[in-house]
Amino acid sequence: MNAAIEISKLDKSFGNCKALNHVDLTIQEGEMVALIGASGSGKSTLLRHIAGFIAADAGEITLMGDVVQRDGRLAKNIRALRANIGFVFQQFNLVGRLTVITNVMTGLLYRTSLWRSLMMRFSIADRQQALEALTAVGIEQKAWLRATTLSGGQQQRAAIARCLVQGAKVILADEPIASLDPESSRNVMELLAKMNRERGCTVVVSLHQVDFALKYCVRTVALHQGCVVYDGPSAALTPQMLSELYGAAVEELFAKFDCEPATKIPAANAAYPLLAS
Ligand SMILES: Nc1ncnc2c1ncn2[C@@H]1O[C@H](COP(=O)(O)OP(=O)(O)OP(=O)(O)O)[C@@H](O)[C@H]1O
Ligand SMILES: [Mg+2]
Repeated sequence: MNAAIEISKLDKSFGNCKALNHVDLTIQEGEMVALIGASGSGKSTLLRHIAGFIAADAGEITLMGDVVQRDGRLAKNIRALRANIGFVFQQFNLVGRLTVITNVMTGLLYRTSLWRSLMMRFSIADRQQALEALTAVGIEQKAWLRATTLSGGQQQRAAIARCLVQGAKVILADEPIASLDPESSRNVMELLAKMNRERGCTVVVSLHQVDFALKYCVRTVALHQGCVVYDGPSAALTPQMLSELYGAAVEELFAKFDCEPATKIPAANAAYPLLAS
């Protein structure tokens, strides 16, 4: 098995805030890994470093063997490397006034010339490819609507379709379900799992909700104050272990689906609300 992402001794501070603290992490091709942690634990910062959006203070990241950044410098060919990475954002990041299909076709811009990118010129084959991607995510009938008219769950599907046409080998999803209702959340997670299963995409998905990590990802990496505090099977993340890792902050990891503090930490894995459904 080859490593899709290798992170070595990654450090990042923002002023006095140590956002990432000596992070070492290897993710193999074809894995689907959950990244969990309370607010401010460094999930987004880590994903943004992997995508080469920001440079670390120290350390190294490679993507399928190519250096993304080393010792605080981004690779010169970072644009080419990013073509392999589909980034899914919590707020979808579609251009609202453009049609859904045009938004999806922007995934092709990574691989086209600057001239075509600037002109946003798309061929019939491009359109066909985008339509196929929209069919794969189940919203082909929305292709010609403006992106703003779609529900949150549909917009997130369009964002995933954009990764599909981009031909992304690695999908980094930063809290892709945080703005969605439980049913749309399940649909989007199913879709990411399908991309992983059927297309062999490596998926790293940051989540606030442990339930989803448990249900969709075999492996979970837990961050706390910029440090990796757990890296192992999701199934082993018992409420007791989470309490030990996060202390009082553990409540946040269950906050979305439970209301009463007394029931926020289920007694056993079988009691996680989403697993029961
Ligand atoms: N651009 C920035 N400038 C200053 N501080 C930042 C910046 N980006 C992140 N931080 C800080 O780094 C830490 C980690 O932030 P990050 O956004 O990675 O957390 P997170 O785990 O994604 O949180 P959330 O669950 O709320 O999205 C936080 O303390 C945050 O305030
Ligand atoms: Mg975040």
